[in-house]
Amino acid sequence: MLIDSFDRKVDYLRVSVTQRCNFRCQYCMPEKPFSWTPKENLLSYEQMFSFIKIAIDNGIKKIRITGGEPLVRDDLHKFIAMIHNYKSDIDLALTTNGYLLKSQIKKLKQAGLKRVNISIDSLNDDTFTYLTQKNVLKNIKEGIEAAIEAGIIVKLNSVVLKGINEEEILELYEFAKQKGIQIRFIEYMENKNAHSKLKTLASFDILKAISKKHLIEELPVKENSAAKLFKDESGYIFGIIEPYDDSFCKTCNRIRLSAEGDLIPCLYYEDSQNIKDSTNSKEKMEYILKDVIKNKPEKNKWSHTSSTKKEDNISSRAFYFTGG
Ligand code: 5AD
Ligand code: SF4
Repeated sequence: MLIDSFDRKVDYLRVSVTQRCNFRCQYCMPEKPFSWTPKENLLSYEQMFSFIKIAIDNGIKKIRITGGEPLVRDDLHKFIAMIHNYKSDIDLALTTNGYLLKSQIKKLKQAGLKRVNISIDSLNDDTFTYLTQKNVLKNIKEGIEAAIEAGIIVKLNSVVLKGINEEEILELYEFAKQKGIQIRFIEYMENKNAHSKLKTLASFDILKAISKKHLIEELPVKENSAAKLFKDESGYIFGIIEPYDDSFCKTCNRIRLSAEGDLIPCLYYEDSQNIKDSTNSKEKMEYILKDVIKNKPEKNKWSHTSSTKKEDNISSRAFYFTGG
């Protein structure tokens, strides 16, 4: 079992398989063109898998594949199958923008994928295209349908931005509810890689928008859940994720592996240790894993700073690097 210095059990690993993405979401990617890490600096599936085996042997029970956009990496289903065949009861999940999902979902399900979180920030073609810089809303909706039909557990993620998609909260909510799947509204986390002028809508305003049509109550906190959960009058459950709140940190059970091999104990700090040169040694990887967990910080950094200076509250971690 992996226990950190604050007595938290770490049993959830998020693996970013690529930084690349076929979208350019404004809240994730820079305005200016930039270059990707060259392929030779990335871990191969075999290298990732050798680390994952150690992680599973030490008590990791849930693995989420992220990116960039994970479905742009060749043969992702083969990688999923490697993990599934090693330990079939691993809770195997994927976070995707949904663009390539329709064509891959059957293979992914067959390979052992159990859940998928799909990002959808707007149901309006123009807004969707403006935000993601790709005019493919129709494909995302088809991807969502295909995942539901395949019998995978589906959740939707929507980042809510002032003046951009804030008027669409109820519509997104009804869209998810009508499909019988959970939606989580995410407050935008400022980060220096994203476009500069974006402003989040606060969770209070998200709840206010939904309360116009629904009677909502907050549910008791679910351990290890990054989202606060709410229920409406019909029993439909939805979530809100507040990246600046640190109440979730008390039961944080996760670590992240980047596509370059950085093992990251907390999204909000720069610290990490690289495993790329150690994937041929079980002992070295195990040492790094335990050391990273020993150094997992107690809380996100916002709680330690009383600074109101804007730059102190902006994360330098890129979402396309850590996978959110
Ligand atoms: N703030 C909050 N959420 C973000 N995501 C990407 N960038 C940000 C950000 N700056 C989320 C997207 C996607 C997931 C991979 O990460 O909504 O669902
Ligand atoms: Fe791609 Fe996801 Fe970033 Fe959008 S948020 S650009 S889909 S990695």
